[in-house]
Amino acid sequence: MPKILFVASEAHPLIKTGGLADIAGSLPPALAAQRADVRLLLPAYRDALKHAGTLKPIAQFAVPGLAQSVQIFEGKLSNSSVTLWLLDFPPAYDRPGNPYVDAHGRPWPDNAPRFALLARAAVMLALGQTSLRWKPDVVHCHDWQTGLVPALLAQAENRPASVFTIHNLAYQGLFSYQTFVALGLPAALWSFEALEFYGQMSFIKGGLVFADRLTTVSPTYAREIQTPEFGCGLDGLLRYRADRLSGILNGIDDEVWNPAQDAYLTKCYSARRLFNKLANKQALQQELGLTSNPQTLLLGVVGRLVQQKGIDLILDALADIMQRPIQLAILGSGETVYETALRKLAAQHPGKLAVRIGYDERLAHRIEAGVDGFLMPSRFEPCGLNQLYSLRYGTIPIVRGVGGLADTVIDATEKNLKANKATGIVFHEASAAALVAAIDRAQSLHRNPRLWKQIMLTGMRQDFTWGSRALDYLKLYRSAQRHLRDKPKGV
Ligand code: ADP
Ligand code: GLC
Repeated sequence: MPKILFVASEAHPLIKTGGLADIAGSLPPALAAQRADVRLLLPAYRDALKHAGTLKPIAQFAVPGLAQSVQIFEGKLSNSSVTLWLLDFPPAYDRPGNPYVDAHGRPWPDNAPRFALLARAAVMLALGQTSLRWKPDVVHCHDWQTGLVPALLAQAENRPASVFTIHNLAYQGLFSYQTFVALGLPAALWSFEALEFYGQMSFIKGGLVFADRLTTVSPTYAREIQTPEFGCGLDGLLRYRADRLSGILNGIDDEVWNPAQDAYLTKCYSARRLFNKLANKQALQQELGLTSNPQTLLLGVVGRLVQQKGIDLILDALADIMQRPIQLAILGSGETVYETALRKLAAQHPGKLAVRIGYDERLAHRIEAGVDGFLMPSRFEPCGLNQLYSLRYGTIPIVRGVGGLADTVIDATEKNLKANKATGIVFHEASAAALVAAIDRAQSLHRNPRLWKQIMLTGMRQDFTWGSRALDYLKLYRSAQRHLRDKPKGV
């Protein structure tokens, strides 16, 4: 079975800002369940150290360019047999809060050296250049923070294969030429066929250009990013590498997201005990100061408050939504303009609109369980996890038909309803009017309890656990290894 070094910048339950953490925390155990030997490498952020459980130092080594050596702490990823390696270098990682930004939401000024260090250490581990004897067959990297790994590996002889997964092409890790020089990267990497991107250094290009295999987190997003509309300026490169690129839909951690055993809920429930979902709605209405009424259609939003998620569409549609007999519960944090606007609107609609700004794992679970419908009007969505959690929780997703949303939610058309296939509501145009029309469709379905229940149950029957998707990754790792073996030298 293959040996995999999994390199990421966040992983649940150690540290999380979004879906990447959910995947980095759940795919390695799913691979281990298929008997793969997986080691997960993360920076030893202060929070990660706090949540990691028992750790022991297992290696210390010098990384070129650093005055002090780095350490590897070893532990276990919670509830799994996956070996966790935390890369300790306090000047880079021992700071409070978010891994990428400071308390004011500004990127840490030393992000380039922080994530270059992660890459360099990963490459040294991958090439067996430390005292650790374990050498991987494949290095699996995620998003721009790990983009330099495939680029640096490609410079080495006798290297493992590299796989790079794009979770979000919009975040690219762009830095100046001066930073490129200061990092001491091989000069050959400063080329438009390598890291250079319109005069800047792009970390993500390191992955996109050099990885043996590229994946993204849904088949539709894999196609979309090859077009100018979704390609963020990199669509040409992705078309060029199309034969190496595929989409594997994300799976969910069915231990963490399971309404039958979710400790955050007021009452657990399942398809057979669906009536218990109502207790969660009542509790949520009470907790958030919404008018108590089991009949009112209650919609939820949980997510980063950024343009990607279509928060502007929700804001534009809010006046219309509030004219209807609908309640809305929003939990999120992100751009200050959205946070301020939402807080202001909540004050204008007491009992109907509840807004909680911040990151709150417990409330995220309680919203998934307590609401009737879940809004995701994303402008783009590589995969999206909340619609998958919604389906599992008998909460009907109302989504824009892009990326992973298009791949996972089946629209309640008359035909799909008749065939018992509908799992949610899908709309297409990125406009407030289209969002309101979708909500109106939800409302009319909600007035028909039999149909609404049918959609809930069809959603709950879908299987979005890792199962077969972990096998898809194992297949992909094998093909990356094959590709590397068959590749003529120097290409
Ligand atoms: P993205 O990775 O683009 O943010 P996803 O839908 O893939 O979007 O994943 C988001 C994850 O982060 C989900 O697990 C969601 O519940 C969680 N999340 C996002 N914002 C919050 C928040 N404010 N509080 C709690 N959980 C949040
Ligand atoms: C990204 C994407 C999201 C995806 C997540 C995990 O943050 O925005 O759509 O679900 O990564 O792959």
